[in-house]
Amino acid sequence: MPLNVLRTKSIEQSLADAEVPEYRLKKTLSALDLTVFGIGVIIGAGIFTLTGRVAHNVAGPAVVLSFVVAAVCCALAAMCYAEFAATVPVSGSAYTFAYAALGEIFAWIIGWDLILEMFLAASVVAQGWSAYVGVFLDSATGQPAGSHVLPAALSSGGVVDVPTILLILVLGALMIIGTKESLRVNLVLVALKLFIVLFVIVAGLKFVRPANWSPFVPPVAAPPADTASGGTVWTGPLLQLVTSAEPVAYGFGGIFAGAALVFFAYIGFDIVATTAEEAKNPRRDLPIGIIASLVICTVLYAAVSLVVTGMVPFDQITPTAALATAFAQVGEGWMATIIAAGAVAGLTTVVLTLLIGATRVVFAMSRDNLVPMGLARVHPRFRTPWVLGIIITIVCALVGGLTPVGVLEEMVNIGTLAAFILVSVAVIVLRKRRPDLPRAFKVPFMPVLPILSALICFYLMLNLSVNTWLRFLVWMAVGFVIYFAYSYRHSRVGTGKTLHADLTRPE
Ligand code: ALA
Repeated sequence: MPLNVLRTKSIEQSLADAEVPEYRLKKTLSALDLTVFGIGVIIGAGIFTLTGRVAHNVAGPAVVLSFVVAAVCCALAAMCYAEFAATVPVSGSAYTFAYAALGEIFAWIIGWDLILEMFLAASVVAQGWSAYVGVFLDSATGQPAGSHVLPAALSSGGVVDVPTILLILVLGALMIIGTKESLRVNLVLVALKLFIVLFVIVAGLKFVRPANWSPFVPPVAAPPADTASGGTVWTGPLLQLVTSAEPVAYGFGGIFAGAALVFFAYIGFDIVATTAEEAKNPRRDLPIGIIASLVICTVLYAAVSLVVTGMVPFDQITPTAALATAFAQVGEGWMATIIAAGAVAGLTTVVLTLLIGATRVVFAMSRDNLVPMGLARVHPRFRTPWVLGIIITIVCALVGGLTPVGVLEEMVNIGTLAAFILVSVAVIVLRKRRPDLPRAFKVPFMPVLPILSALICFYLMLNLSVNTWLRFLVWMAVGFVIYFAYSYRHSRVGTGKTLHADLTRPE
């Protein structure tokens, strides 16, 4: 039998599957809920930690421009996501879109990328949370930073990161009890997080010295000696391998290398689309939720990075917890404590939303039997995919608790950018294949805008490190092995098995 890896799942089939009672999720979310959900996941470790690191190591004050470049990239991709979410409002986000437009193997690739994005991002942000807990406890008890009120071996950067594990277990339980309940907690924490970000902007403004912005784009130089991102060919951007002999930082290249890193800070608007099935009026509310949360975050990020680089000369910014330490550096330690506390609250919502997003993607894949179908079973009372929820929570807790801090962010970025490229292409293909479908939101300037989106995403990928590319290729290779060993043979689209028929069999 010839391989048919390009078989597609029709939009009608995806919509019908979402209505099978045993696999149906509650529809309770409004446009406001979705926007809050979006902001809840977007503002997180990115702005709290990467702003300082990228300003110090890669771009200088021009980190603001890095944020703008990354925002343009995300805005283009967001349009594509919005069109899909308004056309195919079912769980699984980009994965479901690709199944309809490009074929099964592309759906698998996207699903596999999204798993990388959300699993690792949840673990990475939980680790960041744990680090800020440490900073907060130290500063609130008047200890010098790094003195570790918590035992060093059992906290951030130690042998087992216990706070990370506890956080993920508690949030996983919340997620399994129900999205609406989780969102209520989210709402309070998002409000607090927005307050802290605004606090940084308003309180920081009076410490800004315009002289710190000059030179705005520092001249090209060797990366600072203490950076993890400079030094060897392996840790430098792939693009530099072709364009320069020595690893360099700053200059105009630094703006784009910085954009590839701060891209992490925007990740999340795409995850709004993973909750499509739980939205009351998805065709209207999803585009609003996706675009509104992205716009709000872009404005806040630009303001925060301008303020922080204005407060402290870029070469003196702390690469780790810049938002809090900038205030300590201008002699306002108490403000630093408040900001550390706010970061702890803020990062909590990010981890929660990423856990929900990861579960929803695997849920959609297992409903199609690309991963075993029994996993997609929805809890009779909570109406959430509880089996998956438990597995994902435990895996994330272990990855977050046991792997060292700081290597995995770029993996999250490369996986997400790859998914964005496929979504951009898929939006063009679906317009051609199914012009008849009702679309409550349409990407303007078709096909120029999606093509531009794919090109910019690819360019940012080239700005990620050689190491990251190698790890990404290994991840994709593992994905292909699983696809051909299991998913291709069991896929419901291939076998024609219905959701009901499978449920009647004992597991
Ligand atoms: N955008 C999210 C963050 O900054 C993933 O943490």
